[in-house]
Amino acid sequence: QQEASASRWGGHVHMLTTVGSTQEEAKRLAENGAPEGTTVIAEEQTGGRGRQGRKWHSPFGKGIWMSVVLRPSLPLLSTPQLTLMAGVAVCRAIRRVSGVDVGIKWPNDLLAGDRKICGILLESSCYENELAYCIAGIGISVNLAEEDYPDFLNGVGTSLLIERGGASVDRSVLAGAVLTELDSLYAFYLEHGFSPVARLWEAMSVTLGRQVARNTPQGRMEGLATGLDDNGGLLLMDRSGQIHSVSSGEIELI
Ligand code: BTN
Repeated sequence: QQEASASRWGGHVHMLTTVGSTQEEAKRLAENGAPEGTTVIAEEQTGGRGRQGRKWHSPFGKGIWMSVVLRPSLPLLSTPQLTLMAGVAVCRAIRRVSGVDVGIKWPNDLLAGDRKICGILLESSCYENELAYCIAGIGISVNLAEEDYPDFLNGVGTSLLIERGGASVDRSVLAGAVLTELDSLYAFYLEHGFSPVARLWEAMSVTLGRQVARNTPQGRMEGLATGLDDNGGLLLMDRSGQIHSVSSGEIELI
């Protein structure tokens, strides 16, 4: 069992060995009234979930697989802002502890170069358009070597270990840093609003200034990523100079 330092939230950290998904476990705790900051961390997930219904490979002892309960008094519409806020917090923690120069791909994938190193899944539960709670699920590929995950590492994924030329990262130190950064940026966001958080996100972004594509059932759209709108949507300028706001889904850097 590993230790993670407690955050200002009060140290409701549940350390598990094997779990289906920390996301489901955190949801269960939240439904039963668990306080804000309640955190579930597992050594291994057998049913780790990614965005868009994808699976999230979570091998034993190699990564940080954690979910944190948030209880903001905000409208459901704030969810995309919280999504970006979580990305900034995790990016700060990874940079500080590992020294790896990660950047954020909209909305909150963390990349080293063009390879993904961390994914964040923010799920909200609401009551009459007000948030009841959110679960911020964070998956960081910390000490995975190439052979731990050939599919994931096949051109699209990487780990902190690989980016550091084989030097491992202490997962409990990193998990503690993630909680500290999330706690403090979340408090900052609640006090000062989204705008200063959006500026932080922009400074860490690897999306802005690049051509990106988005595939929807209506077709493919390409444009230059120019900034964020007030809700955390991505602003894309198409060839004719028209600006479009993308509020959900995945984008591809091209
Ligand atoms: C993504 O698709 O990029 C998001 C991946 C999120 C993975 C994390 S690992 C901890 C938590 N539990 C899950 O089942 N998923 C999230």
